[in-house]
Amino acid sequence: MGRYRLTCIWVPLDTSPRKQSMDKIILTGMRPLSGAIPISGAKNAALPLMAMSMLTSKPLVLSNVPKLSDITRMAELLTHHGVNITFDGTSCCLRASDITDTTAPYDIVSKMRASIVVLGPLLARCGRAAVSLPGGCAIGTRPVNMHIDGLRALGANIYIENGYIYASAPAHGLSGATIVLPFATVTGTENVLMAATLANGTTVIKNAAREPEVCDVANCLLAMGAKISGIGTDTLVIDGVQELDGAHHNVIPDRIEAATYAIAGAITNGDVVLKGVVYDDLLAFWQTLERAGVCVSQVQRSAKNVADVRITMSSRPKGVDVMTEPHPGYPTDAQAQFMALMALCDGAAMVTETIFENRFMHVPELCRMCADITIHKASALVRGVKQLVGAQVMATDLRASVSLVLAGLAACGETTIQRVYHIDRGYERIEEKLRNCGAVIERVS
Ligand code: EPU
Repeated sequence: MGRYRLTCIWVPLDTSPRKQSMDKIILTGMRPLSGAIPISGAKNAALPLMAMSMLTSKPLVLSNVPKLSDITRMAELLTHHGVNITFDGTSCCLRASDITDTTAPYDIVSKMRASIVVLGPLLARCGRAAVSLPGGCAIGTRPVNMHIDGLRALGANIYIENGYIYASAPAHGLSGATIVLPFATVTGTENVLMAATLANGTTVIKNAAREPEVCDVANCLLAMGAKISGIGTDTLVIDGVQELDGAHHNVIPDRIEAATYAIAGAITNGDVVLKGVVYDDLLAFWQTLERAGVCVSQVQRSAKNVADVRITMSSRPKGVDVMTEPHPGYPTDAQAQFMALMALCDGAAMVTETIFENRFMHVPELCRMCADITIHKASALVRGVKQLVGAQVMATDLRASVSLVLAGLAACGETTIQRVYHIDRGYERIEEKLRNCGAVIERVS
């Protein structure tokens, strides 16, 4: 691995294995939350946006970048490729004057599978890339065959050897093509989209993912001079350009963080205001909350569609069935959190996961807190209980972990959550944000 040239980068968290294994969160539940919760920039937008800096030699300045361990890892990877990165508060300036190394090594990719989003930019800019295969994770096998097939359709020669994806472009560069994705993969769409911006001719991506994070990537590409139409629809049309320029781009608010804190307000019978949310990015989620009896109202909406959203709840939630779907359906990344709410519902709820094959790792942990949940294949039958009870529980992945925090906020007694490093991947200052609303929560090493 080459030497890192990390310029003035802050490292928000100690992500060393020793520290990670030691940290735990201890919280005492049954306190109604009350107050305002600022929503940070979206992790799943910021990661591909940072990778996009490799498409140009000009500076890309991102603002509203969340301080998360995944962002630190992406900065580490990009620095390895030769990108010069400086952080100033929540702004991040990335400049890839030269790409000095086109290999994304196992040590970094194995820690963060979202690293796969460097594949498209490296291939488009340098004509070659070697990216360690990300492999599966706690929530599923997560293959990247659609990323590979999409890039092959653009003319790339790709083979897999020794755990690495080796990709190269023809001497005349990548060429536009029509690609029908078998599934609307989020990072797969982003990889093909980013590569297509510098390809010769026109690329059409059909069955493209429509997630707001994909739209944010496309909008930033537009600001860099790319020619893209159909943003927000399932068909993206990209006319390749010779080169891209620098840009200044504001990362969209994190809709999953907003959904998580909305449930924190609801599960504690609280009254919270989520500051700075794109309301329309979560329509299926708000509707599901309302069906459960949660009061959701926009208290202020700015011209740019950003709103403050007030969440109030004063009774037990009603049982509501929910099925995860690609956007604009109910998001898989808010499934575990909603299940924590349903654990306390009046009646029962069927929660069906259709995106990932193993995204119920929180169920046994919620059951340790006296939830009554049975899994039948891709569905979990949640029979509401009157009270959750604090326990020692183990975080297994990002969203599963935060569902245990939510359950702990509502439980009687003390809940201790181990392996907090999962939460640090996607929730900035979670203890502080919850404590400011009256939660009794602390992190101990
Ligand atoms: N899939 C394939 N082949 C592919 C690509 C995907 O079979 O080549 C399958 C996956 O195994 C999965 C489904 O398609 O069953 C959807 O996967 P997708 O590619 O859409 O997921 P992703 O791009 O790997 C992103 C987010 C996830 C989020 C999903 C779904 C980032 C960095 N990650 O993952 O975020 O759950 O989309 O919306 O954008 C999280 O933040 O907790 C998280 C897991």
